Amino acid sequence: MRTIVSGWDESLERLESLTFVLQQPYEIKHTGAPMFAELYSKPDRLELFMDAMSGISAGNFQTFAEKFDFSRYHKVCDVGGATGQLSMLVARKHPHLQFISADLPEVTQIAEQKIAAAGLADRITAKSLDFFADPLPKADVITMGMILHDWNLEKKMHLVRAAYDALPPGGAFVVIENLIDDARRENEFGLMMSLNMLIEFGDAFDFTAADFFGWCREVGFTKTEVIPLAGPVSAGVAYK
Ligand SMILES: C[S@@+](CC[C@H](N)C(=O)[O-])C[C@H]1O[C@@H](n2cnc3c(N)ncnc32)[C@H](O)[C@@H]1O
Repeated sequence: MRTIVSGWDESLERLESLTFVLQQPYEIKHTGAPMFAELYSKPDRLELFMDAMSGISAGNFQTFAEKFDFSRYHKVCDVGGATGQLSMLVARKHPHLQFISADLPEVTQIAEQKIAAAGLADRITAKSLDFFADPLPKADVITMGMILHDWNLEKKMHLVRAAYDALPPGGAFVVIENLIDDARRENEFGLMMSLNMLIEFGDAFDFTAADFFGWCREVGFTKTEVIPLAGPVSAGVAYK
């Protein structure tokens, strides 16, 4: 646990320096440029961002691999999968599963290298995809780690619908996010992160479990549940 917490601190420091880098010549909300195109236009920034996300997400993905019941599923697609970290951690714990880790083309080679180095290339495919332009790969479980909070409501709804379309009946859509408590009183980190997203990107925001489940019901999901993970982060799960 100490390792996770100190990793978390280091990652937050890296993220703070990344935020500083982004704020200098590239105030995204002012340039109107697509956020990730701007972020990935320099390889050192791409690397910094991938490192920071890996440090922040490791503990959550490990806990998710331990707590979520994968027994009745075969195929998982992690959308916005970055380095393939979620797929690798879940793959080690659940040997019956196959994975697609889908992200922008700039990221695919990094994911392929990490997956090969972990000896998991036979179970995890890194796929290039633009989740606003392409349909999501069909899978029994669609995961999105810290994806929805990057976007405004219209884009969030696009992704929720795309997940619904890619799942079979009984399939699960899982978001791993700083889910804010429904009364918006307790998850201070989630509330501050939401403010940060709004300041940085103009219209992005974090959200409550009730918000997320409302969007999911709107597109047709039926059953829902919250699984607490590490610190302020939870998995919100909606079943088709
Ligand atoms: C905040 S990071 C989250 C990474 C990882 N899921 C995690 O939780 O650690 C957002 C990810 O979404 C990816 N992404 C952004 N826009 C995308 C798009 N249009 N299509 C596919 N992936 C995209 C980014 O490349 C990045 O890896």
